[in-house]
Amino acid sequence: MTSPPDPAALDTAPYTRPDRATTRAVTGEGPALRAAYRLCRRITRRHDPAIYALVQLMPAVLRPACWALWAAVTALDDLADEPDVAPAERAARVEAWTRALEHDLVAGTSTDPVRHALVDTAGRWRLDLTSLQGAMAQTRQDAHGLRFADWAAWRAWCNKEVVPWVEQARHLFEQAGAPMTLRLDRQADYERFVDGAQLTDVLTDLSTDLAQGLLLLPQEALESFPGAETDLLQGRWSPPVAALITELTALARRRVTRPAMTRGMHPGAAIVLDTAASLLRAQLDAIDAAGPILLQRAPRASLLARVRVLSPARLRSTLAWRLTPLTVPGPRRPAVTANLPSPAVDDSGLQPPPPHLSGARPPQIPASRMPAHVAIIMDGNGRWAEQRGLSRSEGHRAGTAAVQEMIHGALEIGLRHLTLYALSTENWKRSPEEISELLATLRRELAENPFRDLDVRQRWSGRPERLPQDLVHLLRHEEARTRDRTGLTLTVCINYGGRDEIVRTAATLAQAARDGDVEPHLLGEDDFTRYLPLPDMPDVDLLWRTGNEQRTSNFLPWHAAYAELHFTPGHWPDMDRRDLWQAITEYSRRQRRHGAVPAPSTTPEIPRTVHSHPNCPPDTDAVKLSGPSPSCSRTGVSARTQR
Ligand code: FPP
Repeated sequence: MTSPPDPAALDTAPYTRPDRATTRAVTGEGPALRAAYRLCRRITRRHDPAIYALVQLMPAVLRPACWALWAAVTALDDLADEPDVAPAERAARVEAWTRALEHDLVAGTSTDPVRHALVDTAGRWRLDLTSLQGAMAQTRQDAHGLRFADWAAWRAWCNKEVVPWVEQARHLFEQAGAPMTLRLDRQADYERFVDGAQLTDVLTDLSTDLAQGLLLLPQEALESFPGAETDLLQGRWSPPVAALITELTALARRRVTRPAMTRGMHPGAAIVLDTAASLLRAQLDAIDAAGPILLQRAPRASLLARVRVLSPARLRSTLAWRLTPLTVPGPRRPAVTANLPSPAVDDSGLQPPPPHLSGARPPQIPASRMPAHVAIIMDGNGRWAEQRGLSRSEGHRAGTAAVQEMIHGALEIGLRHLTLYALSTENWKRSPEEISELLATLRRELAENPFRDLDVRQRWSGRPERLPQDLVHLLRHEEARTRDRTGLTLTVCINYGGRDEIVRTAATLAQAARDGDVEPHLLGEDDFTRYLPLPDMPDVDLLWRTGNEQRTSNFLPWHAAYAELHFTPGHWPDMDRRDLWQAITEYSRRQRRHGAVPAPSTTPEIPRTVHSHPNCPPDTDAVKLSGPSPSCSRTGVSARTQR
C-alpha cells in the first residue's frame, strides 16, 4: 500500500548531518548499528520523501528513531503487498517478521538491520511497542485484501493500522522532553487530521493498489458515484471516477486543515504537524491535477510547492529546536517487559484479594438475594478534596483507593458484575486541566494495575473519540489480557453516556434492518440488548451513588431500568469495601416486584443456600440474615460519621 520507491524523487530537505557525537549518542557506537540506521534513513527517503522531509524538521537526535519506525512500517507493508505472492504466504511473512521482532526485542539485538535499529530505538527511547501488535495483526490481515462497508469501518482500519505507529512518534517526542501533547479539546481535530492524511495516502497510492486489485475506499463513498467502482477496478478514468476523486480530495483537504490543532503545543512539534498539513494539501493539489494519470502512477506535489512549504518550515524549526534543550537518553538493552508481550490471555498465578485492614469479612448473602450486577456512581471526589484544601484532581486520585477497595470487596462477597462510572460524556464540560488529570489518573491506575493478579475480567464501556490513544490502547490491552477470567467482571465507563449508548445501538439496529438482518416490526427488548455495545452486560440490580446526590445522571439507563437505588451521603474517597457490603445487605432485604403485585407474605423467604466465593471461605460468625452482619453494622446513611 505504499508507493514504489521513486528514484527520481528530489529530496528538497537534504540530510543535514548532525555532529559526530550526536550521531553516536543516538545511533550507537557499533558499525552494524550505524549501518542499520543508515539503511532505515535510505528506506524512508526512497519510499516516502515527504515523511523524510518532515523528519528533517525534527531535532537531529530524534531522526534515527523516526527512520527506524518508518522503515519498519515500510518493511511490513512491503511484505503484505508483495506482488506475485499468494495472500496466505504474504500473511505468513508478515507474521514471521512480527514474531522475529518479539524475539529480537527480548534478545536486545537483531540480525535484520531494520529490526536491529527498531530494537535499539525501543530500548534507547523507552518505547513500549506493545501497541503495535494490533497494527501488525491488521497488516497481516491486509495481505488477504480489504473491503470497507462504510466510513466507520474504514476509520476503524486506519485507527488500528496507522494510528499506533503515529503514536510511537508522539511518544518519542514526549521522551525527548518536547511533548506533542494535544490539548484535550483538540483531540477530535487530531483524529480528523489522521483520517485526512490516510485518505490522501490512499488516493496517492490508488494506481499501485489497483494494480493488485485493491480499492481501499469505503463502499459508502463508491456507491455515491454509480459506476465509479467498476471503472476504477478496470483502470478506466470516467466522469463518475473524476467526480469521486474530486469529492474525496475535498474531504481530505477539509480533514487535514485543522489550524487550531497545534495551539498550545511545543513550537517545534507544532511546526512538524503544521508542515505535514501543508504538504498533504500540496499532495492533494497534485492528485486533483493528475486526472487520468492518477490511475497510472502516484502523483507528487511539484518541487515548487514543496520548496514553498519546506523552506520556511526549516528555518522556523531550526530556531524552535535551538531554544529547546532535549533529553537524549543513553543506550539501554530493552527490558523483556517493554517488548511485545503476547496478547494471550494471562490466567496464571491468580491471587485472592487481600483482606480488609480491620479483618472484616463479607456478610453471607443467600445466592437468590445476591445482586448480579452492582453499578456505582462514584460521586463526591471534588468536594472531598475541597474540604481538605486539595485540588479536585487529588480527590480523583484518592478515589482510586476506594475503587481498589470495592474490587476486593466485590471479589470477597462473590459479586459477578461491578460497573463504575469514571468519566461521562458530559464531564468534558469540566476544565481541561481536571479532565487531563483524571485521564492521567486512569492511565496510571491501568499501567500500575493493582488488579493484575486478581480474578477480574476488565472491560471498558464508552466512546474512544476524544480519549488519548495510549489510554484506549491500555484499556484494550487489559481487556484482551483478562478476557477469560471468570471471577468478577469489572466494567469501567469512560467517556460513557447512557443516551449515547442507546442512540448508537439504535443506529446499529437501523443498519441491520436496512441490511435485512432484522425485521423492525418483530423487534423485542432482547433484540435491542443483543445490539448494545456490551450485549452480555446483565441488568443492573443495584445502583449506588455516593456523595449525597439523588440522580442517575445518564448512567446505564437501559440496564438500570429496574435497578434498586441506593444513595449515601459520604464522599467516594471515604468509602471502602464495607460500604459495598452494606449496600448489598440492604439490597438483599428489599422486595423487588418488577411491576408485579406484591406477594401475600411481606416477609421474603430466605433460601437456605448461601452464596460464597471460592476465594473466600464462608465466615460462619458473619451469617446473620435478619440483621446487619457484624462487619456491616453501619447503615448507608450514617456510614461516614460512624467510622
Ligand atoms: C465524581 O466526583 C467523580 C468523577 C467524575 C470521577 C471518578 C473517577 C475516579 C474515582 C477514578 C477511577 C479510577 C478507576 C481505576 C476506575 P465529582 O468530581 O463530581 O465530585 P463533586 O460532586 O464533589 O464535585
